[in-house]
Amino acid sequence: MITVKSEKEIELMRKAGQLSFGALMAAGREVKPGVSTKYLDDIVRQYIESRGGTPNCLGYGGFPGSACISVNEEIIHGIPSENRILKEGDIVTIDTGATLDGFNGDNAETFAVGEVSKNARDLMKVTKAALFEAMEFAVAGNRVGDIGACVQRYCELRGYGVIREYCGHGIGKELHEEPSVPNYGREGHGVRLVPGMTICIEPMINEGTRHIKQLSDGWTVVTADGKLAAHFERTVLITGGKCEILTRDAVTGSAE
Ligand code: MF3
Ligand code: CO
Repeated sequence: MITVKSEKEIELMRKAGQLSFGALMAAGREVKPGVSTKYLDDIVRQYIESRGGTPNCLGYGGFPGSACISVNEEIIHGIPSENRILKEGDIVTIDTGATLDGFNGDNAETFAVGEVSKNARDLMKVTKAALFEAMEFAVAGNRVGDIGACVQRYCELRGYGVIREYCGHGIGKELHEEPSVPNYGREGHGVRLVPGMTICIEPMINEGTRHIKQLSDGWTVVTADGKLAAHFERTVLITGGKCEILTRDAVTGSAE
């Protein structure tokens, strides 16, 4: 079911979004060589719980972390571990959200660990730009296919692989609601966007092939060719005009 949020619900989504963004940035600030992915996960959990929320990854389908933390060729759903130590030149995706007062936020960002290769920098830049380009299409009257077509075009034109198996999604009382928001598609096709819908747009982009592999831990999704992947996500509200980014800084309003 696609849910359309009331003004009161939207205000709660803003609060959950701001908490999610705060947690993501708090962990992001600690990304540096020598830290474990478990350390970053602990920061996320502490940030969210100390502010009255619950990390919505924790226990989701049995997921053991408060954030999904994915390094280099890992695309999504990396399990935080004290044995996984970040080193100079790695890239690391932190994907996390909070439930607060019954509503959810969800956001992700790929961070550089110290100095990274030009390949890595380009991949991160294009993936983030694809997300912000796609937001321009997230307006009432458009369809989810317009969002997907934008991400696909933006990334494939630049030679990158766009994964098909995982998508963005609606969000609200549930972390994952309808509609599905693929990173590929055809303009003018799919579910029509209406004001009050809240969705997560989350390009998952590979340096090489779009094909994926699932690790035997049952969670981690990696690139089939072992090349790098990047992933950026924001929760947005569909309005009559430009979409409103809900996962943003509570004070400055910035979502970058
Ligand atoms: N936050 C992820 C998303 O973008 C969902 C992670 S579910 C988990 O949809 F179980 F892996 F945590
Ligand atoms: Co999501």
